[in-house]
Amino acid sequence: MARVPVVGGNWKMNLARPAARELLSGLRERLGDVDGVEVLVFPPAPWLGDAHDVLDGSRLRVGAQNAYWEQKGAYTGEIGPAMLQGTASHVLVGHSERRIQFGETVWETGRKMGAVCAAGLTPVLAVGEPFSDRRAGRTEDGLRRQLIEALRTVEAMPDGFVVAYEPVWAIGTGEAATPEDAQARCAFLRTLVAERFDAAAGDAVRIQYGGSVNADNAASFFAQPDIDGALVGGASLDADAFTAICRAAAAS
Ligand code: 13P
Repeated sequence: MARVPVVGGNWKMNLARPAARELLSGLRERLGDVDGVEVLVFPPAPWLGDAHDVLDGSRLRVGAQNAYWEQKGAYTGEIGPAMLQGTASHVLVGHSERRIQFGETVWETGRKMGAVCAAGLTPVLAVGEPFSDRRAGRTEDGLRRQLIEALRTVEAMPDGFVVAYEPVWAIGTGEAATPEDAQARCAFLRTLVAERFDAAAGDAVRIQYGGSVNADNAASFFAQPDIDGALVGGASLDADAFTAICRAAAAS
């Protein structure tokens, strides 16, 4: 089955509003009618409305970096997935920075996944092992636990479901995984999705690699059979670099 590659730009907590709008316009100019790749932009929450307005009518889609597991209520500072309807189409769930720096547990990630799906938004589920797991040979056990727990409350494969394999040790370090290593992990995640739902789901789910992806190394990941795109941090803040990565995915 031919899967359309998907590339996401996770801006994390970067860019003041004028710079964010400039980057959005730059991306629209370069990628607004891009073909052969789905492009997602995850700006900081205050700029989601700007992203929606600047990208409206283009082929670029807007995603939120996080959301809460309740849709509304007395939860100061949180964002209910349903509140994103009409502004964002995707939500990033379980990023390792949420898990590590904000103590998000697999149980919480599971609740968030359920709430995102219930709101009719498409989840991009991030999973990935810390270096200690890798060294101890526990990578697959950890990935299995993260994936299975995240999908605990999800009955059927979400439409357009994306999994991002992001080894913690490769994020923001300039030390990307090797394409072969990333391929092996992505293939493993695909078998887990097939086990959890069915073979068709395993075939359809798009699995991204993330961790120090840049314009120079992107194509080597996209050449792997089970890697269907990338989740990009640092390089997504540069319109030219991010465009080159998206074009490499489209050409793969
Ligand atoms: P870098 O591309 O900066 O390593 O970040 C990856 C990431 O965390 C994307 O979500």
